[in-house]
Amino acid sequence: MVFDGISRAIDNLSIWETDVLKNIFQMLRVNPYHRESSRVAEMFSMIVPKYDFLNHLFSFGLDFWWRNKLVELLAANKRGALLDIATGTGDVAFAAAKKWPFLSIVGVDFSEGMIKRARAKALEQKLDKGVRFEVGDALKLSYSNRTFDWATMAFGLRNVEDYEAGLREIARVLKPGGKLLILEFSRVKNPILRLLYVAHLRLIIPLFGRIFSQGEAYSYLAGSIQDFTTHVDVCGLMTEADFRDVRQIPLTFGVVSIYEGICRV
Ligand SMILES: C[S@@+](CC[C@H](N)C(=O)[O-])C[C@H]1O[C@@H](n2cnc3c(N)ncnc32)[C@H](O)[C@@H]1O
Repeated sequence: MVFDGISRAIDNLSIWETDVLKNIFQMLRVNPYHRESSRVAEMFSMIVPKYDFLNHLFSFGLDFWWRNKLVELLAANKRGALLDIATGTGDVAFAAAKKWPFLSIVGVDFSEGMIKRARAKALEQKLDKGVRFEVGDALKLSYSNRTFDWATMAFGLRNVEDYEAGLREIARVLKPGGKLLILEFSRVKNPILRLLYVAHLRLIIPLFGRIFSQGEAYSYLAGSIQDFTTHVDVCGLMTEADFRDVRQIPLTFGVVSIYEGICRV
């Protein structure tokens, strides 16, 4: 009860209205969170050069472990096809190729900059045989119905303009019985940890984002995480999009979760 009350207060924390914080945010030029596709694609293309470095920095290196956990759950010990949606610079696709060498993997993202970087990394890591990268929109995938046995999406769902449509599109390209694994930020339940987490999101990420990369983009990312983790029920969305046996697996005190579901259609 008490925990819930404090937790809600942190969610509703009116950080915009507190004078001191308001000044800090103005200094950092934190912008409200909008996720129109064209804006998101342009923003991700701008942050490509430092994207991997800042991911590892902001997550204290935990992002490697989170992606590996995701890939382990594929349990892909037979031949088949995997689609990694919102693949970015390809780290999930590479982790999957290393763990499950018989997979044929396609990584898709609508940011040309991200895909260019992913292709360069595939060559550097000599993984270009099993992994192919394509520019494409998660809301309008160019693949036929029932093409893939597995689908993954790491830190992508919250950036997609229409969550429901994105999940329905994944269900369309998966075979019946195919597995979807989503890795996303989630709600930290412990109020003390949640407060630290919000401070990390709202202060540290925009500040370091501004020092090393594009401040506006990192303010967007921090805002998108807070908004998504407070308001979005991923399991409910997956169930509505025709996935069954949907479950959430929280990692690192719930900072992120893996959402698993099996395609019905
Ligand atoms: C935070 S990054 C995650 C990248 C990668 N999966 C990872 O684990 O680091 C989000 C990615 O989603 C992509 N994205 C967002 N909306 C998309 C859409 N509608 N179609 C394709 N890619 C999209 C962005 O371009 C960006 O590369």
